[in-house]
Amino acid sequence: MPEATGNPEAARFGVGIPASDEVFYVKGSNHLDWGMQDRLSRIFNPKSGKTVMLAFDHGYIMGPTSGMERMDLNVRPLIPYADVLMCTRGALRSVIPPNSNRPISLRVTAGSTVLAGDDLFQECIGVNIEDAVRLNASAMAVQACVGGKYEYATLKNLAEVIDAGNRYGIPTLGVTAVGRELTRDARYLAMASRVVAELGAHVIKTYYCEEGFEQVTAACPVPIVIAGGKRIPELDALTMCYNAIDQGASGVDMGRNIFQADDPVAMLQAVRAVVHDGEKPAQALEMYETLKNQS
Ligand code: 5RP
Repeated sequence: MPEATGNPEAARFGVGIPASDEVFYVKGSNHLDWGMQDRLSRIFNPKSGKTVMLAFDHGYIMGPTSGMERMDLNVRPLIPYADVLMCTRGALRSVIPPNSNRPISLRVTAGSTVLAGDDLFQECIGVNIEDAVRLNASAMAVQACVGGKYEYATLKNLAEVIDAGNRYGIPTLGVTAVGRELTRDARYLAMASRVVAELGAHVIKTYYCEEGFEQVTAACPVPIVIAGGKRIPELDALTMCYNAIDQGASGVDMGRNIFQADDPVAMLQAVRAVVHDGEKPAQALEMYETLKNQS
């Protein structure tokens, strides 16, 4: 029975102890609402502040991509080592066990494939917010093509998804898509990332560049994660991760350099060591080789 007189024995009020007021650790996210911060803290490891997202949404534009021909066989062994799974709703519902308990970065734009050539970036919003909520998405990923033929349409998609996500507390991951006519240098990547962040994206996915990447991360008010791009030798991929983190990135959102590696599970663990523990590329490669030889 509740006590009619209140709480006569309550005495531990901590009078004189200031109320705790913590600063949220994800860049530019301190003023976001509770649901947003909760989802961001599932994406970014609270200890390292970083994330290793596994991207395998390639099929929505490329079909059965090499290394990802059978998502059920190819993705499941990687799940325990990924902080976040970035995929389409079709992949999620058909091959990812719901009890995997991994945060999902849900690809929510759609509309073209690599067969469309220069029209590859002609996209619309392909997943409505109710479905993203139903799937318990921790983020929604939207492609934005700054400076490209579909700049207006893709930025409109982005703004609409951000508005919808803000209503429900779901962050938006803005993916800077770079058309063939554009150069992936620091000047362009800084502009694209900044535009996407200013429109309200909570996390930006962009490419690493050898020169001036620290300016790209410095000019962006929210966390940047890098895409891996086409497969390159393992040491080069680990070096790219190392340099990106060293120059201000908050993580990676990689696909082909993981799932096309000779040993994807070993590669994902090596990438984790670089991103979360600051392991040097040569040591991470050694780790990769050791794990590969053990499997
Ligand atoms: C394309 C994407 C892809 O998920 C991403 O680029 C793939 O990762 P990777 O380049 O490392 O294979 O967002 O818009």
